[in-house]
Amino acid sequence: MVFQKRCIACHNKQPGDDAPFGPPNLYTVFHRDPPLTTEEAETTIRDGKGNMPAFGNSLTATDIKSVITYLRTRPQTAEKPE
Ligand code: HEC
Repeated sequence: MVFQKRCIACHNKQPGDDAPFGPPNLYTVFHRDPPLTTEEAETTIRDGKGNMPAFGNSLTATDIKSVITYLRTRPQTAEKPE
């Protein structure tokens, strides 16, 4: 999975972690007010932003869309271990 391989080194916050420092918690960015849009996320992932590297040369448009779909559908709060 692209997220585990390419993103989690920096975006390692767990669901429910709203600490204001470090790279943003990607589990919540699509649910904040106002939410990050799919278009904004695509642009940031493709072209980079601030300390966020650009992935336009290493990920296909399909990879970028699937990582966004994955993040959008994660739970917002810490998952309780079964
Ligand atoms: C080298 C560390 C690093 C890696 C690797 C990284 N990011 Fe980021 N990312 C950041 C930082 C730092 C920011 C904040 C940029 C800013 O706003 O200045 C950020 C911001 C973002 C944002 C915008 C969040 C917002 O609130 O606007 C998205 C979406 C994002 N990253 C997705 C990803 C995805 C998907 C991957 C893997 C393909 C990834 N990042 C890999 C460091 C990283």
